[in-house]
Amino acid sequence: MQALLQKLPPSVTALLLQFTAFGLALLFVRLTGLQPELLTFALLCGLLAASLSYFAGQARWWLAIQLTFASALVLMLTFEIPPGFFLAAFVILLLVYWSTFRTQVPLYLSSNKVWRALEGLLPPPGTSFRFIDLGSGLGGVLTHLARVRPDGHYSGIESAPLPLLMSWLRTRPYPNCEVHWGSIWDDTLVACNLAQYDVVFAYLSPVPMERLWRKARAEMRPGTVLISSTFSVPDQAPHQTVEVDDLHQSTLLVWRM
Ligand SMILES: C[S@@+](CC[C@H](N)C(=O)[O-])C[C@H]1O[C@@H](n2cnc3c(N)ncnc32)[C@H](O)[C@@H]1O
Repeated sequence: MQALLQKLPPSVTALLLQFTAFGLALLFVRLTGLQPELLTFALLCGLLAASLSYFAGQARWWLAIQLTFASALVLMLTFEIPPGFFLAAFVILLLVYWSTFRTQVPLYLSSNKVWRALEGLLPPPGTSFRFIDLGSGLGGVLTHLARVRPDGHYSGIESAPLPLLMSWLRTRPYPNCEVHWGSIWDDTLVACNLAQYDVVFAYLSPVPMERLWRKARAEMRPGTVLISSTFSVPDQAPHQTVEVDDLHQSTLLVWRM
């Protein structure tokens, strides 16, 4: 059963388990004859959904969502919030997270300490080089490096519209910095060809790492550098690791092609 559920997208599994939890909670109430308050019932649904998600092997952050989903729904309905609020929230979340349900790479940002650690992994000063951030988020990595190492050229690819807009505005003052809208897997996008970069940086998630490795091996030139923040490539030991003393204790994993 666990294997079957893991074949589905996590959001679909979560929804199925919410329905199952609702059915089980309803059965429990019928069998015991209890008449719980709506919020208590929702809490029971949340507990059951989170437990089922745990046994289904869902990631920890899904457990938190499963636990609070039904109660949050009940509380929202109690406050009679105008429907426009939910529509606006949905549109904003859509513009920020875009295809995260498919890519399984949400937006979270590298720390300033990671930006500074990256400085030490760039080619020596005075060498002109090209750097790309795959999934460039709000453009923090790009603008920081463009400021401290103006001898480099910096590109970003970002699929989510709102982060792209913010990073586009942010990179305007830097003539050596550009961002592109699209998917890093889109072979028709010239910027996605990794052969043109000396340093490729990615802060994604465990999900695309194997695919990223295959792309890097196929396209990157010998002697160039792939850096992944936090996420490793299965069965590919990095040539160098840099521990960063930030909130998440990030690690930069470095492979020389
Ligand atoms: C974890 S964030 C990293 C942001 C930024 N690189 C940083 O280090 O602060 C990952 C970003 O990759 C983007 N992303 C995920 N899959 C992508 C894809 N296939 N193509 C382009 N961008 C993608 C997400 O929208 C998100 O902004």
